[in-house]
Amino acid sequence: MTSSFADLGLSPARIKHLAGIGFHEPTAIQSQGIPQLLSGHDVVGLAQTGTGKTAAFSLPILEQINVANRYVQALVLTPTRELAMQVCQAMQEFNIDRRLRITSVYGGQSIGQQLSRLKRGSQIVVGTPGRVIDLIDRGGLVLDQISAMVLDEADEMLNMGFIQDVEKILSYTPDERQTAFFSATMEPAIQKLATRFLKSPVTISVEPQKTSTARIKQVAYVVPTGWTKPRALVPILEMEDPESAIIFVRTRRTAADLTRQLQSAGHSADEYHGDLNQSQRERLLQRFRQRQVRWVVATDIAARGIHVDDLSHVINYELPDNLDSYVHRIGRTGRAGKEGRAVSIVMPLEKYKLTRVEKRFGKKVEYCKVPTQAQIAARHLEKLQTQVREAVTSERVASFLPIVSQLAEEYDIRTIAAAALQMAYDQARPVHLRTEDYGGVDYGQAEPKPKPILLSDSSLPAKQPSASVKAAENSEIENHDSDSSYSDSSRSKDRSSRSSAVKS
Ligand SMILES: Nc1ncnc2c1ncn2[C@@H]1O[C@H](COP(=O)(O)OP(=O)(O)OP(=O)(O)O)[C@@H](O)[C@H]1O
Ligand SMILES: [Mg+2]
Repeated sequence: MTSSFADLGLSPARIKHLAGIGFHEPTAIQSQGIPQLLSGHDVVGLAQTGTGKTAAFSLPILEQINVANRYVQALVLTPTRELAMQVCQAMQEFNIDRRLRITSVYGGQSIGQQLSRLKRGSQIVVGTPGRVIDLIDRGGLVLDQISAMVLDEADEMLNMGFIQDVEKILSYTPDERQTAFFSATMEPAIQKLATRFLKSPVTISVEPQKTSTARIKQVAYVVPTGWTKPRALVPILEMEDPESAIIFVRTRRTAADLTRQLQSAGHSADEYHGDLNQSQRERLLQRFRQRQVRWVVATDIAARGIHVDDLSHVINYELPDNLDSYVHRIGRTGRAGKEGRAVSIVMPLEKYKLTRVEKRFGKKVEYCKVPTQAQIAARHLEKLQTQVREAVTSERVASFLPIVSQLAEEYDIRTIAAAALQMAYDQARPVHLRTEDYGGVDYGQAEPKPKPILLSDSSLPAKQPSASVKAAENSEIENHDSDSSYSDSSRSKDRSSRSSAVKS
């Protein structure tokens, strides 16, 4: 297998530039896809999440643009606005020619601005189907000089009611264009449909699905009998202690409710779904990427393509309707060679869904018990010990020694150390989280009462769900006009509700 960008037919200047942004070796989809695309073939590119499909289709396009001309020569379609922005940004990063303009077009942003940017001339356009059609209809986007067209997340684009839009857009492009479809998933039926739009396509399938996500550890917690999901979530999050996480839910309302609950409990969390306006969505993604928000509670609009560096956890608070969505969701972690953890929280009756997951990946999902208070305390103490070990060898520790000497005149050194540890522990685990029975789901209710650290196992009596818990549960049922009704039966009728969420 090729192991260098130089062997793929890219220009030396591009290879040098790629090395400068940390792209030293091509990934498998890149080493197999780039030569095919450069030689003009239509391509169906299948490779697992986070393995660099964006560069696989972007680099050949960038190499082949005629910068002397200002007309649109390549079009990339994506299912969501954020993905259009992200792909556009990636292409800009790979670009080495200042004359080459790449423009993203999507709903929720002023069409006037996009029209004037296109008027100034853009050789590459990345956009969502709805806005692309709108711009074509207004005469602002002309596709008759298109030589390359890519559908990113192609199965989603052909599945979700985008198909008529895609067909319409294709009808404006020249027949002799090169067309490429990329995704991490592609059911045979969709692939057959795809071949309708491609000419003798070369299919590149990198590693069967079974070995994909090998770097993602998949675990599941089964909600104990008599418990509700919101109640089980509290100890699970305490145990998992995610550095950064996307918590997936099925409906916008559950996203809003759960976010409120997490925020009232003092967690750094925010919501991300189709009810937010475009600038709210963009701002949140930016804050998440900059680590200003640790956890994002999202519907499936965040499941495809979105890249956040070093995302430690994907949590399926609610499982999606189909396996492909599961694959894309958990693929937000364990990207670009990193490790990741995918946690599913399931009701006992949902366990069969995980059997299907296990079959798909050819790998067992590890079942964990909802942790007890004692286990959580032990985990936090373990973490504290690690932190102390790190602090002991740090330079700053010396500046605290005079205080220790002073205190040592009054107290035993071990007592002083223990007191300091207790203070650190209390800061890491705010008092309101240290409840004996995980009643913490009623975050908003009572004033937090200080409680002692419980190092012994506590019994976990089943608690009547509170009003807020009941409301959260009802919302999952009532408001299933979700962004994620992905089941076959709902596909066609779901077009209108999805359009506002995903389409632009
Ligand atoms: N050759 C490479 N060397 C180093 N980093 C790379 C390389 N190719 C891609 N990456 C990085 O890997 C990450 C994931 O890439 P990308 O978003 O293209 O994945 P993907 O295959 O499209 O995943 P998804 O199926 O989720 O859309 C990005 O941060 C990208 O910059
Ligand atoms: Mg992608």
